[in-house]
Amino acid sequence: MLNLFKKETPITEVFPMDFVDIHSHLLPGIDDGSKSMENTIEMISTMDSYGIQNFITTPHVLGNVWKNSSDTILDKLDLVLEELEKRDMSYIKFDAAAEYMLDEEFCELLKSRDLLTLKEDSLLVEMSFLQAPVNLYEMLFDIQLAGYKPIMAHPERYMFYHQDFELYQKLKDAGCRFQLNLLSLTGHYGKSVQKAAERLLKEGMIDFAGSDTHNMNHLNTLKKIGTKKNLKLLAPILQNNLEFNR
Ligand SMILES: [Fe+2]
Repeated sequence: MLNLFKKETPITEVFPMDFVDIHSHLLPGIDDGSKSMENTIEMISTMDSYGIQNFITTPHVLGNVWKNSSDTILDKLDLVLEELEKRDMSYIKFDAAAEYMLDEEFCELLKSRDLLTLKEDSLLVEMSFLQAPVNLYEMLFDIQLAGYKPIMAHPERYMFYHQDFELYQKLKDAGCRFQLNLLSLTGHYGKSVQKAAERLLKEGMIDFAGSDTHNMNHLNTLKKIGTKKNLKLLAPILQNNLEFNR
């Protein structure tokens, strides 16, 4: 078939060289992401085949649910690095930080400065999908006072903001940068999230992108990302991710 009128770009042509995926759950058995080392390698290999060879994976640190620490995360990271070497996959750049839920436990971690950053002072944070914490702005202030720069994970998924886009601007004014989930553009989280994602991109409010991969199902769905409309909106954002190269 002639490709002249092709509307979709294959996933292998979506990501710029040296793209860094700054949000994923690829460390085995420490959150709701990868279930095993085998599963971890399967997901990394699949993303490798999509043209992503550079990862800063970000397990949940979430209250009493996913009680990870820098130590538990870095120990798992070492195991994955060993496994990659064993399989002659050392060309994959693989590092770890975390996705911190803005909760009470986080406030304690912040006091001790025991936090893993994406790069230098950039800290990936998230909120509950039900509501923002009552002391959200105080927390964002304290994060920056402690010398970190917050990056809010998947702002488009906080449906309590969809009716009032001013609140997104308020978050940005409070010092947040925004990381979009690529899957939001495929409709994976529903129409409303997809619309919010498109609008945030159009209004120039998104700084970075991430896959937020938890499982193979996510990676299969990601193949649908390459529409003309999506790629036009995403191209500059995917470039921004290159700043996380180490
Ligand atoms: Fe995540």
